[in-house]
Amino acid sequence: MADQVPVYDPSSYDPCSPDVKPNVEEHFAELRQKCPVHHHRFSEDQVKQLSDNPFVIGQVDEMYSLTRYRDIEECLMNPTLYLSAEGSGPERIRPPENGGTLAWSDGAAHKHSRRIAQPAVSPKVIAPLTPMLQERIDDLIDEVAQAGRMDVLEDFAVPLTSGMLTYLLGLPVERAEEVKQWAMAILSIWGGDDEAARRGAEAMGAISECVTTWGADRVAAVRRGEASPDTLTTLLMTPDAQGSYFSHEEVVQAFAQMIAGGFESSATAIANGVYLFCTHPEELRKLRERPELIGTAVEEVLRYMAPIEGLVRTTSTEVTVGGVEMKKGTKVRAVFASANMDEEVFTDPRQFRIDRDRVELQKHMAFGRGGHVCLGNTLARQELKLAFTSLFRRIPTLELDPDLTPTRNKVMVIHGFDYLPVRWDPASVIARES
Ligand code: HEM
Repeated sequence: MADQVPVYDPSSYDPCSPDVKPNVEEHFAELRQKCPVHHHRFSEDQVKQLSDNPFVIGQVDEMYSLTRYRDIEECLMNPTLYLSAEGSGPERIRPPENGGTLAWSDGAAHKHSRRIAQPAVSPKVIAPLTPMLQERIDDLIDEVAQAGRMDVLEDFAVPLTSGMLTYLLGLPVERAEEVKQWAMAILSIWGGDDEAARRGAEAMGAISECVTTWGADRVAAVRRGEASPDTLTTLLMTPDAQGSYFSHEEVVQAFAQMIAGGFESSATAIANGVYLFCTHPEELRKLRERPELIGTAVEEVLRYMAPIEGLVRTTSTEVTVGGVEMKKGTKVRAVFASANMDEEVFTDPRQFRIDRDRVELQKHMAFGRGGHVCLGNTLARQELKLAFTSLFRRIPTLELDPDLTPTRNKVMVIHGFDYLPVRWDPASVIARES
């Protein structure tokens, strides 16, 4: 008798469970075919965990995950139907009283905040950071070079992204550890308890203090022509269409979101890329032979393993997607990591190919789509280009450590690793370009 092929059961997918993470891509492939609008009812423990947070205003007992490209696009392009102000996680977060800022806002408040924040991360402000980023990358490589092994996240990617956020604030890089602690405290507010909320509030207080003192000094220096504008000063000095500036509170919120949005996502993307190049040596060879492919290589890393697995919206009215009816106030998750693998949109999506067609690659959703599309994408792309180029050029023998096993990040929103051990021959390391 022929072996029976087991039939996939969509209820085996629990988006909050760490158990689904090691083969989450298999779940998404099955869900796209068999259950593209996936319903999950939270367990009692999950409901309790989601509600045990002082920022939460109401209980949520279910969530839908959209796994097909076209449904996700429809969701992201309809911000009046799918709202952001109740937070981008499954919790029902209290909407900000002033209408909110960036990711925590909708409609006019969102437009106002994008208008002011966009120039703060424009290529003009980001370009001068390139030499600092390159120096930080080379310092980090020098620090580990002779050890012959490292955890890509702890020893390279996390210090790099926290350093980058420090540059955004215009702070000296020695304060990177402090900025990292702020980022981690803010991120832990989601899914966290009272203690996490307290730490998050403390971090917001520290950012507020930094904006007041450091920001005022920097603005004065820019006005005197003694310093060039950085992200913080641009946030403080840019008016919107009506000529109004961000309030102090809004600058703090915008900054907190940049820190939270730019920290783990970029670190995860770096580790994902290292993993993908190490497991696809023919693609790495291609990149070495044709370094000009770095741009599409970065996009393919982001497509193949979108670092943000998915983010949540709240329906403003009744909505029907793929025949599934959802009532007003339903939490709906757009799963970017699944959209990027949709066979209807990408040719051979499970193949990692750094010379994919540019037009096809532009369709990936690693940075989202529509009005909330990632504000830090120029910076993130620059960081990834420099990181991959330098790592694989200066450490030509870099490979996954065969004695150790990488582990996946268990947090629902993150799609990638939290431990990625690699090794190399210290004698092969190439000196930095002076
Ligand atoms: C590879 C790295 C990154 C990835 C994969 C990523 C991903 C995303 C995604 C998917 C969104 C859309 C959110 C939504 O639709 O609700 C987003 C928004 C955002 N990102 Fe990023 N991001 C990255 C790096 C950064 C960096 C470096 C910064 C800091 C400058 C940043 C700041 C933001 C902000 C402020 C928003 C909110 C924009 C809005 O709601 O209008 N991100 N990001």
